[in-house]
Amino acid sequence: MTNSTHIKLQPKIPKTQESIFSVMSGLARQHEAINLSQGFPNFPISQELIESVSRYMRQGYNQYSPAKGLPALREILADKIMRLYGRKVNPNQEITITAGATQAIFSAIVALVRQEEEVIIFEPAYDSYVPSIQVCGGVPIGVQLKGPDYKIRWEEVKSRISSKTRMIILNTPHNPCGTIIDEKDMEELKAITKGTDILVLSDEVYEHIVLDEKKHLSLLGSDLFERCVCTYSFGKVLHNTGWKTGYVVAPDYLMKEIYKVHEYNVFSVNTPVQHALTDFYQNESNYLEVAPFYQKKRDYFLSLMKESRFTFTPTQGTYFQLMNYQNISEESDVEFARRLTIEHGVASIPISVFYAQPNDEKMLRFCFAKTDETLQKAAEKLCKI
Ligand SMILES: Cc1ncc(COP(=O)(O)O)c(C=O)c1O
Repeated sequence: MTNSTHIKLQPKIPKTQESIFSVMSGLARQHEAINLSQGFPNFPISQELIESVSRYMRQGYNQYSPAKGLPALREILADKIMRLYGRKVNPNQEITITAGATQAIFSAIVALVRQEEEVIIFEPAYDSYVPSIQVCGGVPIGVQLKGPDYKIRWEEVKSRISSKTRMIILNTPHNPCGTIIDEKDMEELKAITKGTDILVLSDEVYEHIVLDEKKHLSLLGSDLFERCVCTYSFGKVLHNTGWKTGYVVAPDYLMKEIYKVHEYNVFSVNTPVQHALTDFYQNESNYLEVAPFYQKKRDYFLSLMKESRFTFTPTQGTYFQLMNYQNISEESDVEFARRLTIEHGVASIPISVFYAQPNDEKMLRFCFAKTDETLQKAAEKLCKI
């Protein structure tokens, strides 16, 4: 013990700063700026879904559901996976409903990564990967994606693989870059993992937000499936991120391990919500129409931003758009994002915070999951700069 009343701890997660999402949203509130920083919609969700959850609550569906999730929901997801990706998964053994994709990712990493094993992540990386790896004593190995295309440089990935590599975390469509993998990437991944014990965690929460009529290449549809864990989020599809529901799909032998962590972590997920999701997913347009919906939003936002001094490549997937500001300022992205919020009234996310190493791409991430009115007001301010 030290002199203080606190017992000495060795933090499992070294990071101490507040997350950039809280910082930027706090700044947006303080300065009454339009908040395009955090990734959540600001429009209403389906009234039918809300009424369905309320109905199930009134009917008494208020107790624990099975830890793997409602069988009917798992079955409907297995059907969807078969139809969209041609993969036959066993709904009883290969799907688990989780408290959002974050918990699916956490459970998978904790179950499968051991002390000192290495996990390759692509930076900029979604912020839950590194802490999840650190909690179980694993070592994150960052491979940087660089502008303007933010493609995976497979030669570099190859050079970072060692005898300790346990997992590669892929994210397609990618937050924050808005890129998607193609067949060539899939072939490279196959070649790199062939004959190894490397697992692939494929974070596909934006599977239904692939734009310009491109197709989502899911690891579920590939012959890599036997070494894969794929994670999904209902929140991203149904515009209800606050409901924190998602699911994980993996072959039986991997799911057995993931399930052990899940069972003793959350046990089961919100019952009335799962009933309502089961009904809602009967109608496939409820998830397939999400891409055309966001296509309109992206196109609208970009048509307005054409008049600005920001430069951009249209995002291929997700509801995020990267914007380069090198024509406007020499500042670091963190400084510029702060000033943009305080002086110009629009909050965004500086992408350097998603990299472990210093990075000066001069890129900001804007979320376009907003009403047209919000997008119009934000673009008007951004075009004045
Ligand atoms: C790439 C990525 N993975 C996972 C998640 C987490 O999803 P959920 O809100 O369902 O936990 C997000 C949310 O922003 C994300 O962008």
